Amino acid sequence: MKDNLEKQVTILRQQIHAHNHRYYVLDEPTIPDSEYDRLMRELQSLEAAHPELVTQDSPTQRVGAEPLKSFNQVQHSLPMLSLGNAFSSQELHAFDKRVHDRLDTSLDISYTCEPKLDGLAVSIRYEKGYLVQAATRGDGQTGEDITHNIRTIDMVPLQLIGRDFPDVLEVRGEVFMPKAGFTALNKKAEQLGEKTFANPRNAAAGSLRQLDPRVTAQRPLAIYFYGIGDVSGEPLAPSHHGVLQKIQTWGLRINPEIKTVKGIKACEAYYADILQAREKLDYEIDGVVYKVDDLASQETLGFVSRAPRFAIAHKFPAQEELTLLESVDFQVGRTGTLTPVARLQPVFVGGVTVSNATLHNMDEIIRKDVLIGDTVIVRRAGDVIPEVVSSILDKRPKDAKKITLPKACPVCGSDVLRAKGEAAARCSGGLYCPAQRKEAIKHFAARKAMDIDGLGDKLIEILVDENKIQSAADLFSLTQEQLENLERMGEKSAKNILASLEKCKQTTLSRFIYALGIREVGEATALNLAQHYGFIKDIMAASVDELQQVSDVGPIVAQHIHSFFRQSHNLEIIEALKKQGLTWHEAAPRAQGDLPLAGKTFVLTGTLQGLSRQEAKAQLQALGAKVSGSVSKKTDYVVAGEAAGSKLEKAQELGVEVLTEDGLQKLLS
Ligand code: IVH
Repeated sequence: MKDNLEKQVTILRQQIHAHNHRYYVLDEPTIPDSEYDRLMRELQSLEAAHPELVTQDSPTQRVGAEPLKSFNQVQHSLPMLSLGNAFSSQELHAFDKRVHDRLDTSLDISYTCEPKLDGLAVSIRYEKGYLVQAATRGDGQTGEDITHNIRTIDMVPLQLIGRDFPDVLEVRGEVFMPKAGFTALNKKAEQLGEKTFANPRNAAAGSLRQLDPRVTAQRPLAIYFYGIGDVSGEPLAPSHHGVLQKIQTWGLRINPEIKTVKGIKACEAYYADILQAREKLDYEIDGVVYKVDDLASQETLGFVSRAPRFAIAHKFPAQEELTLLESVDFQVGRTGTLTPVARLQPVFVGGVTVSNATLHNMDEIIRKDVLIGDTVIVRRAGDVIPEVVSSILDKRPKDAKKITLPKACPVCGSDVLRAKGEAAARCSGGLYCPAQRKEAIKHFAARKAMDIDGLGDKLIEILVDENKIQSAADLFSLTQEQLENLERMGEKSAKNILASLEKCKQTTLSRFIYALGIREVGEATALNLAQHYGFIKDIMAASVDELQQVSDVGPIVAQHIHSFFRQSHNLEIIEALKKQGLTWHEAAPRAQGDLPLAGKTFVLTGTLQGLSRQEAKAQLQALGAKVSGSVSKKTDYVVAGEAAGSKLEKAQELGVEVLTEDGLQKLLS
């Protein structure tokens, strides 16, 4: 029994050591962080239950990996600490209770809440206001001297500003690579045929561990400071947030999302807010950190091994997890594109259970080297569709199977074709293929297209499956009785759908063109086509060359438009729709300069009641106006709907004319 345990602990340690090395030293992790956390927690709990098994070299007994040999070592004057983690609300409340118990108080604790940046901890030492040394955390006691690299980061001051800073000031913070910079860096590397980085954290680590500072200087690194180390003289402030405010005055960057709150419930509200904002932040975070704000209380609380008792990291659900790729199906989209979809052993990732993930296309499958039977990394970030990121080669079974593109469409059996130079493979069945038909009708009914209220995706699928409709035109022959008889449909919803269908018959040429679902023709292109030609018959008759005269239409889009109108089934549907009573205004295009709002720039803000912002935009553009996203001196009108915010303020500041929704309606009519 004991022997077995010992073996288990040794194996765990070896695994963690190996992963540490790949992650910290080589910057080439082979498993997601969540898997690493799990190994670490398993070891921690085994060691907690059997303290006699703890050894000095256990990864739980130190913070990071050894420094690289080629850098000078730096002894930290005060150790660089790690943080305990809370993965649930219970664990967080247990932390808060421990704090209350140790401080012997029942009052709400003041906590400073900070995003937990996913980068690298650094310590930077200023003497008499000059940057003299910078070091990585290393194992917490000894780090690597990276002064030459830190000096290359623009936002790190080489000299502090002001005068009231202490003689010795060591500040600690996180160096990271903003998402935008990371994307650009990888894109460049790809173009040059160089190795890309797995994530922004690895890119930041790789950039800091350069022996040549000229390389580091080319990398888009950033920093936020979140604490102090060795400081001479008087304490800087009585509270943590006071310290941060103080060092900020000396030119050291503090994260603007930091907030001091009262009580653990308010911390949880902060967590929820930041989780919501996560995708919009330009840097990666993996949780938030709460720190007891009062420094005297921090001192009372002290430390356990290498982590403070006064702070905790509240981790977000992992965005990457490991799971088994059980099979691959091919889904057929509106334009016939076959998308490989991974069927996975269900796994909890990014806060939900995921059992399907996209593999994008065959090229991506080859690039990521994924086989059926592989253990794969699945990623689900925010509202983005979950995707398979890569496979774990170490875990590949002998009988793993290659993923092959079907020769026939899995839905209609038509040939699958792949055009030269295109990543996508397509079903050649066109509207004969029920899958393409469904998607085409969904597109036709969508908000930006015909905006048929109440006609959702699910309903369209049922209608096609039950052979009630073959094309978008058939929607208009649906009867009250047919709709009512569908499952989960009442008399009232059926009526509403018929009313929406009736209402949408009055439309605009640009909406109609968009609704047709021509490849690569989005809203903007549809509008340009409508404005350029004015009559649908002219668009239908235009040659590929002529179509390219329309703004934003290049040779490929022109080809798509041209061939769309050369296919008989498309022409039949257009005729059928007209017969059903769809109408729109047609008129010879006016020269741009003649349009009533030519040369005027509008900005739309807030919620409009009578029409969507997209509609307002399209109508304004049809009258020759430009619609911009931001207010400047060049703006002629700001249309302010309900709950308009900063753009309205800006308009008032600049003296730009503000229109209410009524005012806009008047102008449009
Ligand atoms: S404070 C006294 N604050 O998380 C505790 N750490 O897991 C020292 N980190 O090594 C750390 N954002 O690399 C602190 N706002 C933040 C942080 C943060 C990211 C990292 C840091 C640290 C690790 C601990």
